[in-house]
Amino acid sequence: MIFGRVKPLDAILATAEKKSLHRSLGAFQLTLLGIGAVIGTGIFVLTSEAAQKAGPGMLLSFIVAGFVCGVAALCYSELASMVPVAGSAYTYTYAVIGELLAWMVGWALILEYAVGASAVAVGWSNHAVGLLSASGIHIPAVISNADALMAHVQLAFGAAATPDLMTAAQTGGWINLPAIIISLVVMSLLVIGTTESAFVNAILVCIKIAALSLFVILTLPSMKTGYFHPFMPTGSVGVFGAAASIFFAYVGFDAVSTAAEETKNPQRNVPIGLIGSLGICTLFYLLVASGAIGAIGAQPVTGANGALLAPGTAEIAGRCAAITGSGAVEPLVCSKEALVHVLQVMGHPIFGWFVGLAAVLALPSVVLMMMYGQTRIFFTMARDGLLPAKLASVHPKFKTPHIVTFVTGIAATIAAAILPVGKLADYSNSGTLFAFLMVAVSVMVLRKTDPTRKRPFRTPLVWVVAPAAIIGCIALYVSLPLTAILVLPIWGAIGLLVYFFYSRSRSYVGRGIIDESGEAAPEATA
Ligand code: ALA
Repeated sequence: MIFGRVKPLDAILATAEKKSLHRSLGAFQLTLLGIGAVIGTGIFVLTSEAAQKAGPGMLLSFIVAGFVCGVAALCYSELASMVPVAGSAYTYTYAVIGELLAWMVGWALILEYAVGASAVAVGWSNHAVGLLSASGIHIPAVISNADALMAHVQLAFGAAATPDLMTAAQTGGWINLPAIIISLVVMSLLVIGTTESAFVNAILVCIKIAALSLFVILTLPSMKTGYFHPFMPTGSVGVFGAAASIFFAYVGFDAVSTAAEETKNPQRNVPIGLIGSLGICTLFYLLVASGAIGAIGAQPVTGANGALLAPGTAEIAGRCAAITGSGAVEPLVCSKEALVHVLQVMGHPIFGWFVGLAAVLALPSVVLMMMYGQTRIFFTMARDGLLPAKLASVHPKFKTPHIVTFVTGIAATIAAAILPVGKLADYSNSGTLFAFLMVAVSVMVLRKTDPTRKRPFRTPLVWVVAPAAIIGCIALYVSLPLTAILVLPIWGAIGLLVYFFYSRSRSYVGRGIIDESGEAAPEATA
């Protein structure tokens, strides 16, 4: 096997069987779990950024991103039904391809989960600030975003002092305090042992679905076809660029596979949960995006010199401040809380307030799931000896992995304090796309290397679907902004250093041990 050190599948299953958690989740709960993890900042906030990149063509972007996630979910389903254990893409890669790439996938999943948690925290902050403002409590910009900080960093690195950049430097904020608060609150909840019960998740899913349904009911009847022209003002490059960013709106369905160990009849229920939650979310996203475009328009804004501005930059923040400062209606692409904004512009401030409230109530659970997912990945990697066991040590009173939770929580808090939501989402996407790609590769490799193993769920047309997932992930990755493209190799290089200087010599599989229980690994190769 390439890269050696494969963790035998039978050993993974045996270990999981011994330590298995109580199997209590059914297909319906898994689907709800998926929807709970998926609907969040992506649709509530990043719809504006997608519009800035693609205009009304963002509808196609939602379809492209949904398609890539759909084919990836079919690949996930085959592996999750065969290897129904926690650890997700990391575990599958370990079993199928080998330790080195598994390590890289686990390392990339840190981007998905920890940076993703920061992105959702900033999305929450946008809504909390908006909701308070609509209720008469104004939080000053200086402590509710980091636009001025970013503008000054850009100026320090030699960016031209355009009027838009200078506006951002003067009117923007320096730190995102609400995002810091929510990240620390969620971290503390995880430290004291809060996990979301299926019941609470079901309620939050109902709140989110109710908010999106309300939005669709209010916007679809007042759609104006004129707002759909020009449909693709930025061409196919814009559509793919928006798809690469809005991909974040679909991330989280893989949380279903990480719950496979707690699922009744995982062979049947995991594929239903993965594909069901993704299908329902895709449907809602297309309706919501159509409603937003048709109700108030979604054309991109350009800078003073007529050039298209990149979303999430200080320039566009300054440009938007100038537009609203002139008394004009704020365009969709400028809004930090896209759906609330559409309803406000339509003259439904009360309904806008309710949608904002739904986001404020429901988004913390998405932050929680992402931070929790991160601790589970760290845990599994530590269980394999690739990370220090101390990192996964359990708090004597709360019985939680408090150290790993602190590390994850503090890192996510710092990122949320100083970076804009779109950049965080793009960085998170670069890690997630790598993990999805490796899952698609693993499915094909396992079909060749272990064709007779029982596959309770078989990816249909695997030789079409898995390559489509791989091509889709690469297409979205190269459509990300350059900084996000660079994040993956830089983060990966750091990961390789850690692997070769720390993990490789300590790996249980490498040392001929399966896990900390001390079992021998008969097939392990050093
Ligand atoms: N898909 C999740 C969200 O949009 C991560 O917030």
